[in-house]
Amino acid sequence: MNEDMISVAGLRKQFGKLLAVDDISFDIAAGEIFGLLGPNGAGKTTTIHTLVGGLKPDRGSVTIGAGGNPLHPEVRKQIGDAPQALALYEELTGEENALFFARLYGMAGRRLRDRAAAVLDLVGLTDRRKDYVSKYSGGMMRRLNLACALVPDPPILLLDEPTVGVDPQSRNLIFDKIEALRGEGRAIVYTTHYMEEAERLCDRIAILDHGKILAMGTLDSLLEEHGGRSVVTAGLEGAVPAGLELPGTIEDDQLRFEADKPLEDVAKLVASGLRFRTLRVDRPDLEGVFLNLTGRSLRD
Ligand SMILES: Nc1ncnc2c1ncn2[C@@H]1O[C@H](COP(=O)(O)OP(=O)(O)O)[C@@H](O)[C@H]1O
Ligand SMILES: [Mg+2]
Repeated sequence: MNEDMISVAGLRKQFGKLLAVDDISFDIAAGEIFGLLGPNGAGKTTTIHTLVGGLKPDRGSVTIGAGGNPLHPEVRKQIGDAPQALALYEELTGEENALFFARLYGMAGRRLRDRAAAVLDLVGLTDRRKDYVSKYSGGMMRRLNLACALVPDPPILLLDEPTVGVDPQSRNLIFDKIEALRGEGRAIVYTTHYMEEAERLCDRIAILDHGKILAMGTLDSLLEEHGGRSVVTAGLEGAVPAGLELPGTIEDDQLRFEADKPLEDVAKLVASGLRFRTLRVDRPDLEGVFLNLTGRSLRD
């Protein structure tokens, strides 16, 4: 499948003087999790809002499926939206929320009840469906938010920071469900400010900062292009064999050097008779990519 489910071209959105989304473009195919990774305020939610037609872009275009405008009701139905600001009624039960969304999509009768039951089951909330949402934990609310997005069985899913405030167990359940949804061929947009989540889940990642996409590609390609080199730190045992030229400097018995292929370099040193007591390889990660691209840390 190479037909794009979402196509964004030259998108721009300004709030007063603030350029929240600055000329961004990307295409997302079926069966792909596309990550929008960036710190708070980078423009992730604003981008998502334009994808569902909730915000009108100042410039650029959003195309859903084969030439669809998200403002068209039939096109809008193809998009499941789990917003960062939870779209739930806390004074209703989990089940009543799912039923409410099913009615919004025009379902009735048997189909309405079946669909609500199916999405609650999918996120593991069947047992708690009769409880008021106001009694739910943060993780349960996020899972219900995802369930409600899944009600229309949409080929496209927009998940805006779906694990914020979520306990590790719910987080893993959400990850598993999202991976299963990808396996069914859905196109998924996943926004996060957690690089570990983007690394774990996303097939392609766009790094967003101040409304601009700074780099975009697979994890491997981002690491290769922007990640820098690995750092090897090794505690040495015994003497350095005479005549062996070390690739770095020794301080307090620790050899430290940078490498493109750290394990090959280490193997060569071992073959030359160098003995290691400890060995640590710090490979580049998305945090390093962000640092190299912006000079700032993603964690701040
Ligand atoms: N409705 C709005 N009015 C004014 N400024 C906004 C509005 N929505 C977002 N912003 C600003 O736009 C920027 C991007 O916000 P947002 O898209 O929410 O970022 P993110 O989701 O990546 O944290 C931020 O500086 C934010 O304060
Ligand atoms: Mg946001």
